Amino acid sequence: MNENMWKPDRQAKTPIYRQIAGHMEGRIRSGEFPPGSVLPSERKLAAMLRVNRTTVIQAYEELRSLGLVERAVGSGTRVAGPAAGTVKTPNWRQYLESGTFLPNVPAMRRIRSELNVEAPVIDFASGELSADLFPNDIVRKLLQERPYSGYLGYDDPQGFRPLREALSRFLRRYLNVEASESSLIVTSGSQQSLFLITHCLLQPGDAVAVEDPSYCRSLSLFESAGLKVLRLRADRREGLDPDDIVALHRRHRLKMIFTNPNFQNPTGTVLSAERKRRLLDVAAEWGIPIVEDDPFSLTAFDGNVPPPLRSMDAGGQVLYIGSLSKIAASGLRIGWLAAPGSVVSRLADARRQMDFGLSTIPQWVAAEFLDSGEFDRHLRDLRLKLAYKLDSLRVALDAHLPGETEYRVPEGGLNLWVQWRRPIDDLRLFEQAVREGVVYVPGSVYGSDADCFRLCFARPRLDQIEEGVVRLSEALRKIAGPTPS
Ligand SMILES: Cc1ncc(COP(=O)(O)O)c(C=O)c1O
Repeated sequence: MNENMWKPDRQAKTPIYRQIAGHMEGRIRSGEFPPGSVLPSERKLAAMLRVNRTTVIQAYEELRSLGLVERAVGSGTRVAGPAAGTVKTPNWRQYLESGTFLPNVPAMRRIRSELNVEAPVIDFASGELSADLFPNDIVRKLLQERPYSGYLGYDDPQGFRPLREALSRFLRRYLNVEASESSLIVTSGSQQSLFLITHCLLQPGDAVAVEDPSYCRSLSLFESAGLKVLRLRADRREGLDPDDIVALHRRHRLKMIFTNPNFQNPTGTVLSAERKRRLLDVAAEWGIPIVEDDPFSLTAFDGNVPPPLRSMDAGGQVLYIGSLSKIAASGLRIGWLAAPGSVVSRLADARRQMDFGLSTIPQWVAAEFLDSGEFDRHLRDLRLKLAYKLDSLRVALDAHLPGETEYRVPEGGLNLWVQWRRPIDDLRLFEQAVREGVVYVPGSVYGSDADCFRLCFARPRLDQIEEGVVRLSEALRKIAGPTPS
């Protein structure tokens, strides 16, 4: 077999770079490339296989991480190791495929790998703030004026007590959520709250309902835990219909409902107060806990924060998850979960087994930040800047993709959910967009809406937004031709 005959299968689920790595690994193991021999250059192999050079680089990097090749600038990629047969390299591939934790969905891995290369890609894909929106000055000032001199031993796995106290005040003041410090656990972002809930409160085979489309749909986390993930259709105007839960529960005995009711990711929808009440009633009637994932409420551009479900929950059905990632800085890795005391203890115990709890220093920074007047100023400023960025994106879409897209303008959150007006092969378009130097998240990652895509307007710098849309329109023209008149 040689490169002239073998080509990666572009329809296959396995990413192209992995197919190439697998193919080259086979040739190395078969002895076609003995130890010390030089593999084809990145450029040559890319041309032979008709793929990007970055894809070959990824494949070679994968072989390097498996210990099969050595790479050095100037001397190319060589097959590693002494003479064949003297050392038996572990079959890392077999190990990689046997862990219980599944890899992320292919499109998300592809986005990550594009963002890791040095070429400047405009990033509408990452769901986070751009670096200029992070409160760097405030954090620097806090650290300079009040150097941390607190405890540096293993902390309470439930979280740094002063932060839990600050969070309790913060939740009451900004979100009308009552949660005592003892009912809170500080986590390494909402992601860890979801992980802990999944692994401590559910079992393989349990049925859970998630919105479709939704962030949770893209989480391999649920599948790794062996959960049966059922979709709740969320329409773009009003979000999920609580009465659909009844039908789903009758058929599947739901163990939990995961929802992001305010400025939902990806649609930006806010569940109406009426639907929120109905959702709580349905959950109460059947005794099903709701996990409310609420990272975006405080981004409400006009400051009118929609009430979280948890603020309306009289029956203790809602496990409430929040985070500083979307309103301050994702790299602080500060999230929280408000839950009944027994649930908090169970999760904190798991936490102790996993990592002995978070570092106290970022928790201390977060507590100081939340309690200072600086947080209020930061939030007001952030809302204005987010609204301005969204506006710039709308102007660019209307100017450079006229007649091609449809969208509802959200009143908060970081994302614009956009629908194509004509049929588009979403994964082909995505690949072309990568070639043009722009990334976003194709709709199919979030569920069944392959005619849609998500643009995170918060992530690119303001001065990159128009250029990003120009690149996207170029990709569309190359894949689907000019806009039909
Ligand atoms: C709805 C939703 N939940 C949770 C998360 C995870 O955020 P973090 O772990 O940074 O708090 C994200 C991140 O994109 C999100 O969009």
